[in-house]
Amino acid sequence: VKSSIGLIGLAVMGQNLALNIARKGYKVSVFNRTAQKTEEFVKNRVKGEEIEPHYDIKDFVESLERPRKIILMVKAGKPVDDTISQLLPYLEPGDLIIDGGNSHYLDTERRFKDLTEKGFLFLGMGVSGGEYGALHGPSLMPGGSKKAYSLVEDILLKIAAKTEDGPCCTYVGERSAGHFVKMVHNGIEYAIMQSIAEIYHIMRDVLDLPTDEMSDIFKEWNSGELNSFLVEITYKILKRKDEETGKPMVDVILDRAEQKGTGKWTSQAALDLGIPTPSINLAVVERIISHFKEERTKLSKLYNKRRSALQKSEEFLKDLKDSLFFAMFMAFSQGMWLISEASKEFSYNVDLFEVLRIWKGGCIIRAKLIDTLRRYISDENAHLLESEEVISLLKERIGSLKNVLKVSIENEIPVPVLSSAYNYFMSLTEERLPANLIQAQRDFFGAHTFERVDKEGVFHINWEEGEIG
Ligand code: 6PG
Repeated sequence: VKSSIGLIGLAVMGQNLALNIARKGYKVSVFNRTAQKTEEFVKNRVKGEEIEPHYDIKDFVESLERPRKIILMVKAGKPVDDTISQLLPYLEPGDLIIDGGNSHYLDTERRFKDLTEKGFLFLGMGVSGGEYGALHGPSLMPGGSKKAYSLVEDILLKIAAKTEDGPCCTYVGERSAGHFVKMVHNGIEYAIMQSIAEIYHIMRDVLDLPTDEMSDIFKEWNSGELNSFLVEITYKILKRKDEETGKPMVDVILDRAEQKGTGKWTSQAALDLGIPTPSINLAVVERIISHFKEERTKLSKLYNKRRSALQKSEEFLKDLKDSLFFAMFMAFSQGMWLISEASKEFSYNVDLFEVLRIWKGGCIIRAKLIDTLRRYISDENAHLLESEEVISLLKERIGSLKNVLKVSIENEIPVPVLSSAYNYFMSLTEERLPANLIQAQRDFFGAHTFERVDKEGVFHINWEEGEIG
């Protein structure tokens, strides 16, 4: 019997996805560049699932029923192109390749065009949820063409995470829409992670709380409106002790954050499309700053921080909690706005309501807040702010956020993402920004012209005229 689907790339994500598909009753052929990985996978992890290992790419392709469906779970970048080139000689028009990695959307755009021209089908599919999600139900964000999607829809719906609103998978949109949406998912992920980290920083260095106590607080928050995967793992992380030293695990982990690029790509795309995503941008910047550990250590000796311990109080904990809610909201606001703009600009035809639905389960940014966002999202209100109820929801928390920012400033704690959420909101709700002065400056030094508030047209004046000296 031929296999229903093939999977290439047996790192942990690939292994888990293959097992997930097989456990839903589909026969899966697998292939990996190095045979040893395939052998180990079959030996150690395949227990009765219908998974057929292959050690030759041609045999692998021939083991699949037609039209062939092949999921690539290989590293983003050149490995994806290499694998596609390797496959092509054995495929027939109408066969489908699905790239399930974190590919850059422009790569997906190029591959989609190239493969479509050759008569093949292609889906660029965002897969979120890490190793656990891949095995037990990820959030899937496939984009490409409806026709390609319909070939694998039944499989994808079965392996995806489930919520009361259905499986966390939908056809996201045309061409590279799936990978674009996954990229923004990661941008939001960066902003929320950094917001949580800033709150933790205040708890650690201003409130002087033991990690166990911080854990209890995050745990309590997770049972309310902040309920989310990232808050959940935070309280679990803070509970964990290092086996060697007995210290809290977070205290023995070096404060230098890594990144594989998806957050940075989100900011780059946002800057190119002209959509403000300050919280995402600053989350990326803060990871970059964290990298300069040696510089920070040297500079910290030159500048002694002013820190005065603040007593923990119920009020201030509520301020922290409300600030995190506010920051999370702004991360989604910026991300959804960016997706909406990209959808228009690139004719993706993305359904924003559906995107939020498939983020309700399986993915890293799943959060109770998404239910609230879904009540207000629309193409006309992609940033979610244009609603009296939303504004009052935020207004109720603005006092808390101000207080947290005040305490952070007084204690010289960097809070780039919490303050970016505040400034983003305050800028958007300001009728008259000081950009008039910027226009005047531009016109002064470069005759770049300006518009006037009182009449139509473009103007330029000679700014030096009449000046004395
Ligand atoms: C997911 C995650 C995942 C991402 C890692 C690491 O949705 O499951 O977003 O796709 O690759 O979390 O990302 P960084 O290395 O850039 O932090």
